[in-house]
Amino acid sequence: MVSSTVLGVLVSGRGSNLQAILDAIREGKINAKIGVVISDKKDAFALQRVKGLGIATEVIERKDFATKRQFEEALVNTLCEHNVELVVLAGFMRLLGSDFISAYPGKIMNIHPALLPSFPGLNAQKQAIEYGVKMSGCTVHFVDEGMDSGPIILQQAVPVASSDTAETLAARILEVEHVLYPRAISLYCKGRLTLNGRQVVITDENVK
Ligand code: GRF
Repeated sequence: MVSSTVLGVLVSGRGSNLQAILDAIREGKINAKIGVVISDKKDAFALQRVKGLGIATEVIERKDFATKRQFEEALVNTLCEHNVELVVLAGFMRLLGSDFISAYPGKIMNIHPALLPSFPGLNAQKQAIEYGVKMSGCTVHFVDEGMDSGPIILQQAVPVASSDTAETLAARILEVEHVLYPRAISLYCKGRLTLNGRQVVITDENVK
């Protein structure tokens, strides 16, 4: 039995992706355990989701640090204390700087609610509606220093209807996020993701 990968999950809000990851671990779909959940918002609902599960939680708020660098140093120190091997951004609403990223090279994942490189940044679903695309979706990618610009791991498309609002589209995309993110994390934990330049090569791509 291969030992399970230790995840550190960073959140800022409601944590439905965190929930999907917790469920997938419980169901044996991901060979991982969550070492720590870190929130940059003390009242994030995501923190409630791990209550009673014996998972460490930490609140690390930007306002408590003079500089972004010190804030990120605190994040990295906490991840290290919990022996985190893969950092999972799950609705973490901050752009990470180079110090953080170089502490976990190729070991930080994010999920974005659009088909990158279209519609990076905030309000991706609203951007998609306003542009008038007929398909949008979600993307799991490795994190680099840019805004949603790192190597793409998995994507899934979702249709956009003329009657959609940003909210209805977001709900349709979110359902897919909850399947795609655990799948990408599972591939990572099985050692099936390799970087070749910008391309993420998936070993045995057609095997689930
Ligand atoms: C999701 O739409 C995700 O794609 C984006 O932030 C949102 C987080 O939602 N990065 P939740 O906190 O996981 O429910």
